[in-house]
Amino acid sequence: MPTTRSRARRTTIREILDTAIELEKRTMALYVGFVKAFPRPEEVRNFWFTMARHEAGHCGALALVESIVESDPRGAARTPVWFDPTTVTRLRSLLTAYLREARGGVGLERAFEMAIDLEASELEDVVVDMMKVVKSPEWRERAIQLLLHDLGDLSYMVERHTRNEALLARADALIERRVGGLGRRRVAARGGRA
Ligand SMILES: [Fe+2]
Ligand SMILES: [Fe+2]
Repeated sequence: MPTTRSRARRTTIREILDTAIELEKRTMALYVGFVKAFPRPEEVRNFWFTMARHEAGHCGALALVESIVESDPRGAARTPVWFDPTTVTRLRSLLTAYLREARGGVGLERAFEMAIDLEASELEDVVVDMMKVVKSPEWRERAIQLLLHDLGDLSYMVERHTRNEALLARADALIERRVGGLGRRRVAARGGRA
């Protein structure tokens, strides 16, 4: 993403951690709200719970990075991380607006749309990038596994519970984007959609 990278500035991991944890927690709060808002059918409620659990996993991955940074501050300081303040500002205002909107009550289709907007944001790319502080390739790989979402489930839910072709196309595009990255093996293991 050259445009993002050119806007981005190099910064310290410590600086990004607090922001990223805050944004992951707010995303989790939104999905937890959807668990309560959509108790039926059960597969929908389970889907939102799984989404919330994934965000909890992202918080866990960040806590792991935090510990690593604390145990080796000099090594972490040498690890360059790219941080785009525009992405964070945009995501933060999106989350504020969505949390407010969700409190007022939203339909399932709108909830899926919000999830797609949030999952399309670049926060998770930033978090994956931060895993560079984990020096061992094997451990890094395992830490990154905490970050991967079942975006195939999101697409499946949109297909099953809405008739919105445009939304489905966006959900599928999200998977495509991830398949180009570290999600490849996981998606392949799932054999596409469940
Ligand atoms: Fe996340
Ligand atoms: Fe997410």
